[in-house]
Amino acid sequence: MRGMKSRSRKNKKASKRRSGGPSIQGPEQAEAMRAAGRLASEILDRVGEMVAPGVSTGAIDRLVDEITSARGARSAPYGYRGSGTTPFPGHCCTSINDVVCHGIPDDDRLLEDGDVVNVDVTPVLDGFHGDTSRTFVVGEASPIARRLVADTYECMRLGIQAVRPGGRVGDIGHAIQTFAEAQGYSVVREFTGHGIGEEFHTAPTILHYGAPNTGEVLRPGMTFTVEPMINLGHWKTEILDDGWTAVTVDGTLSAQFEHTVLVTEDGVEVFTLGKHEQPF
Ligand code: MF3
Ligand code: CO
Ligand code: CO
Repeated sequence: MRGMKSRSRKNKKASKRRSGGPSIQGPEQAEAMRAAGRLASEILDRVGEMVAPGVSTGAIDRLVDEITSARGARSAPYGYRGSGTTPFPGHCCTSINDVVCHGIPDDDRLLEDGDVVNVDVTPVLDGFHGDTSRTFVVGEASPIARRLVADTYECMRLGIQAVRPGGRVGDIGHAIQTFAEAQGYSVVREFTGHGIGEEFHTAPTILHYGAPNTGEVLRPGMTFTVEPMINLGHWKTEILDDGWTAVTVDGTLSAQFEHTVLVTEDGVEVFTLGKHEQPF
């Protein structure tokens, strides 16, 4: 028993990604990511019950922090530096309306009727990351906003459905871009999906646009996110002076959904499925 235990511990470390290569997980790592993903989706289920006009994004952040620490996990966004120098101050990202991603939770920003707000959480449980986001509609939003949110979910769904062993990363972006542009939207270019596992952001980069049958070949065990950001207007974004908040340059609405997925022997497994969500 003891021998098995120490061997399995070793395996957990031994099959870490090759430097610069994609995140590839063995069965044990996949199981740990399943648990992290389940926690991430449970946090968003709780956030969804809280979203309403008058609730601040700061209050959402505290709920995320509370659930995360109660489960013995930590929030990867908190203090994260990414490629910039300013550590992220929140436990999650809250991105409202023309904010594309990386919005900073704020006690002074109360959700208003008609807002669309994306909440993006990434708990680290037992050393593994689960990264997922949903865009919630606050109260009675306009038909255009509701349609954008529903179509952005469909973009993510189509992207995930394009994942299969032997397929290529370009298949994912192509599926997303084709649907998004057919609906008259644009696909954000500056932010992408990413490999994930014991590290937050690794290879491969998952573009949400592109050509089929191009890019890296997908292999069983690979874990990455699919997280399209879809704009009503132009795809271009800019970063506010806080060093994080990304907004659409033309001020138009943006929506996003994100799941963490595993390439399996015969398709794809979604680690971050929500309570009310149809299986893929
Ligand atoms: N969760 C985001 C992603 O999908 C990253 C957020 S980094 C932060 O990759 F620092 F802004 F939180
Ligand atoms: Co992500
Ligand atoms: Co995320």
